[in-house]
Amino acid sequence: MDDLIDKAAKDLANSKSAIALTGAGISIESGIPPFRGRGGIWEKFDPMEYAHIDAFTKDPAKVWNALLREMKGIIDRAKPNDVHKVLVRLESLGILKTIITQNIDSLHQKAGNKDVIEFHGNFAWHRCLDCEKRCETADINLEHIPPRCECGGIYRPEVIFFGEIIPPNHLMRSRQLSSDCDIMLVVGTSAVVQPAALMPVIAKESGAKVIEINPESTPLTDGTSDYLIKGNAGEVMSRILNQLERRIKADG
Ligand code: APR
Repeated sequence: MDDLIDKAAKDLANSKSAIALTGAGISIESGIPPFRGRGGIWEKFDPMEYAHIDAFTKDPAKVWNALLREMKGIIDRAKPNDVHKVLVRLESLGILKTIITQNIDSLHQKAGNKDVIEFHGNFAWHRCLDCEKRCETADINLEHIPPRCECGGIYRPEVIFFGEIIPPNHLMRSRQLSSDCDIMLVVGTSAVVQPAALMPVIAKESGAKVIEINPESTPLTDGTSDYLIKGNAGEVMSRILNQLERRIKADG
């Protein structure tokens, strides 16, 4: 692993336009469970029954009582971890230009990253299905489920449910950045949900290096990724940053 950490630090030091694609694996150390794998959210809830827009429209109270109430509790308590902090430092060094995240926990912004594309929306805000009034999730009253706006309409989180499209501006900008970047860090995602998982493929086909950081291999590992650094993102990213800062210091 040491060689690959050195290699990633060197690649980042030489990069002019690095971006990152992040997924649920980076928020595990903040206490937010991933979706897939052992202990994952989809082990408890069938996504088609609880996270599809048709399921929400048909029975919002069921989705609120199970999935959304639990998510609200977990996300309310979560704080940025080492991975988020390393990504802030990479941005402030001028190395990392943008983060495309599939996460809805707002932890990149809480940590201090400025340019974050929330590909799957975010859980920090809700919107009334009738009058479209927005309300911060922190101010949503959960005494009555589903929570309702003053107009009587039901609140929905500003996340992208299965069956919904990615906001076109987010999709277009992500595709553009993916084709223009020279490095894409792919951190903590199983890379099985489209179209997010297409971004590293676009990057690779446009000539960028794709560096994966994940304890497991993914469908990108053989073919799209240049290399996989196998390990927990907190440890791996902190070690890459250490090496990178040493290099920058040595280069004066
Ligand atoms: N550090 C880095 N990666 C980790 C760690 C860790 N400590 N622990 C686990 N992982 C990896 C897993 O190996 C897995 O590849 O994180 C990944 C988590 O995968 P998913 O749970 O599938 O999360 P993600 O890829 O973000 O899911 C994509 O699917 O249903 C949805 O909309 C939801 O945005 C989500 C999308």
